[in-house]
Amino acid sequence: MCGIVGYAGPGTGRRTEQDVDLGPGPSQRPLEVVIEGLRRLEYRGYDSAGVALVGPDTEDVAFAKKAGKLVNLRTELADRSLPAATAAVGHTRWATHGGPTDGNAHPHLADAGRLAVIHNGIIENYSELRRTLAAEGATFRSETDTEVAAHLLAREYRAAGDLTAAMVATAGHLRGTFTLLAVHADAPDTVVGARHDSPLVVGLGEGENFLGSDVAAFVAQTKEAMELGQDQVVTITPTSVSVVDFEGRPAEGKRFTVDWDAAAAEKGGFESFMDKEIHDQPQAVADTLRGRTDADGRIVLDDLRIDEAVLRSVDKIIVIACGTAAYAGHVAKYAIEHWCRIPVEVELAHEFRYRDPIVDAQTLVVAISQSGETMDTLMAVRHAREQGAKVLAVVNTNGSTIPRESDAVLYTHAGPEIAVASTKAFLAQITAAYVLGLYLAQLRGNKFPDEIATTLDELRDMARKVQTVIERGEYVRATARSMKDADKVLFLGRHVGYPVAMEGALKLKELAYIHAEGFAAGELKHGPIALIDDGQPVFVVVPSPRGRDQLHSKVVSNIQEIRARGARTLVIAEDGDDDVRPYADEIFWIPKAPTLLQPLLAVVPLQIFAMALATAKGLDVDQPRNLAKSVTVE
Ligand code: G6P
Repeated sequence: MCGIVGYAGPGTGRRTEQDVDLGPGPSQRPLEVVIEGLRRLEYRGYDSAGVALVGPDTEDVAFAKKAGKLVNLRTELADRSLPAATAAVGHTRWATHGGPTDGNAHPHLADAGRLAVIHNGIIENYSELRRTLAAEGATFRSETDTEVAAHLLAREYRAAGDLTAAMVATAGHLRGTFTLLAVHADAPDTVVGARHDSPLVVGLGEGENFLGSDVAAFVAQTKEAMELGQDQVVTITPTSVSVVDFEGRPAEGKRFTVDWDAAAAEKGGFESFMDKEIHDQPQAVADTLRGRTDADGRIVLDDLRIDEAVLRSVDKIIVIACGTAAYAGHVAKYAIEHWCRIPVEVELAHEFRYRDPIVDAQTLVVAISQSGETMDTLMAVRHAREQGAKVLAVVNTNGSTIPRESDAVLYTHAGPEIAVASTKAFLAQITAAYVLGLYLAQLRGNKFPDEIATTLDELRDMARKVQTVIERGEYVRATARSMKDADKVLFLGRHVGYPVAMEGALKLKELAYIHAEGFAAGELKHGPIALIDDGQPVFVVVPSPRGRDQLHSKVVSNIQEIRARGARTLVIAEDGDDDVRPYADEIFWIPKAPTLLQPLLAVVPLQIFAMALATAKGLDVDQPRNLAKSVTVE
């Protein structure tokens, strides 16, 4: 959802690596930085974009905003002569209040065009504020909730004469969620920001400073960053960063160094970020495992700041997450319950929060999130902690809110994930969940050290096997191309294959806009089998034939049942599994692996299939319609 960038620094000088051509007028580092930041935040999902600039010689804020992709804004800017600026803000908008039009795009202006505001979040009391401000003489030009913040800030600025103090006062009037950034022509080297339940991170440069929704906004400029707490106002100039709380009292941000390379957020020769990120998966698995054991081979989780005695006393684990992360949570349930004998529930974060869940000090809540900013998950984290539970975050993004508000964090090291639909983060989340499960088993004595060491070795070997599946991708792509007119695809799986089936269906919905459903294979006879008719494509994830409890033979029977009713069966099976051959129309082979670890392999053909089918339909696989990568509103 909305992407935010702010910059205060010299008007000329060093150009960004992108050498953005922004048309006539003086060299515009502030504008270049902001446009480059917006480009890097495109992945969040948006439907319009805008920028605002102030400089020593500007009477009013210079601004431009356009509906549609960033290219529309850049075209608009290329036709304009812009003044030299020393501060700038930029915004990509994901429409909530008011359609995705030029007029509703941010920035929104007030104070006779001398003040500009951009916003991420939802201002819940905007109707009453709008009535009050209109009665006081403010003229509204858009249908957005944001515009009230601009007029409110203008009013407070007139009273306080200081932008920071005005922002503090404004924040006090707003309900809902917001990150706000503002520039004023009176303070041409200053950007002021406020955050309440929406993300904002500071980038620390030399003679210049940055603000961003996440570090991707400025990682090409600096790796030195500062986390802000909730309910804080930050003021940046080229040479200073100051933070106060919503009472106006001085506050401290927490400095950290971004461990992502800016190049990791580039396509690197692939046709799409999604393609690149699928290819990043062996690395994501390997990096998430790296450094998790000591010299004796025991698992050590340095970031896990929860007392070992507390972890030993845990009697229930609840995994909360949304979307793909929730399916990773389902896999975690099978592994942790099997290894640790602790009951594990998996719940969508938005359902958990509102159903009065039974949570207490013996409950460990595991919040899984790539972005660390998903509002539904964040709210569930807060609720769990209020009930006395310890919360462990499994998160990919440094400096994000969920780890900051949790008791402990286990970072996945997937690197920046840009494509809106998640791929490598899923594999990294599953890997992290396995590590957590093995760690708890070690701590609680559920497994002997040599059993844990064996599983860890098998896990380490998975990166190589994921690579093998990727290398076999061409057959999957060819199958997908041949199915580009499919209008309904079903996915079946059992045990850990069940969440894989659901994730396969989600990928196809997200990327190819095809109706797809994932079912537990055992549930087939209880309803879904009625959907099968002649030629219906059905993917089936087949467990290892070496697995336990006749899982394999049950799934092979399911394949026979659907084939007998005309289904076209697309089977994901382990190398050498001859039992499936007679019943499979297509087989996507994956290397042999222990049953519990198989999701790391089985999901890969499904990702490649969805991507290839969407590409064959001419769709944008990185930014599917209507979706946002980081869903920062409830
Ligand atoms: C959005 C994205 C999904 C993602 C989900 C959870 O819906 O489009 O790809 O799985 O959010 O995101 P998180 O950042 O919390 O993992």
